[in-house]
Amino acid sequence: MARAKLDKHFSSKEAVWHYGADVLDSEIYSQCACYIQHGNTSVREHSISVAMTSVAIARRLPFKFAYSSLVRGSLLHDFFLYDWHDKEKPIDNHALGHASRALENAAQWFSINPLEADMIKKHMFPLNITPPKYRETVILTIADKICSFKETFEIGAHRHEHKTISNVLK
Ligand SMILES: [Fe+2]
Ligand SMILES: [Fe+2]
Repeated sequence: MARAKLDKHFSSKEAVWHYGADVLDSEIYSQCACYIQHGNTSVREHSISVAMTSVAIARRLPFKFAYSSLVRGSLLHDFFLYDWHDKEKPIDNHALGHASRALENAAQWFSINPLEADMIKKHMFPLNITPPKYRETVILTIADKICSFKETFEIGAHRHEHKTISNVLK
């Protein structure tokens, strides 16, 4: 795992598209646009916001980070691939269990390293009580909570791309 400072010419958004291109361009990941995470925000929009926020936080800190993993782990942290709001198909224990499901899916569809696995598995800390092993996981737990709060209360709503099920599948 190579840690470095982020190239100052990259914006946080550019860093997400640079390091997360294989995830963002994949067909399976596009399914995340079909599921709502919080409020009117899809899982894909949420995950992109979290990745951008993770990069924005990390680059302000006086430490080096593994930016490729920071982006990929952030993009995949909620890669659970179901609608947890669907009352006709209730999901057992979504709050505590979705991190493990996201990790299973991420490992199945993408090549992920131990740091990225730690980020995905532990992003719900302290709800999931196992503490983060890496500084990138700590950043993700913070970024996820900031974005979740904003989306739930629709603060500063911004949309990277909004896709309904019908226009994703057409
Ligand atoms: Fe989550
Ligand atoms: Fe999340």
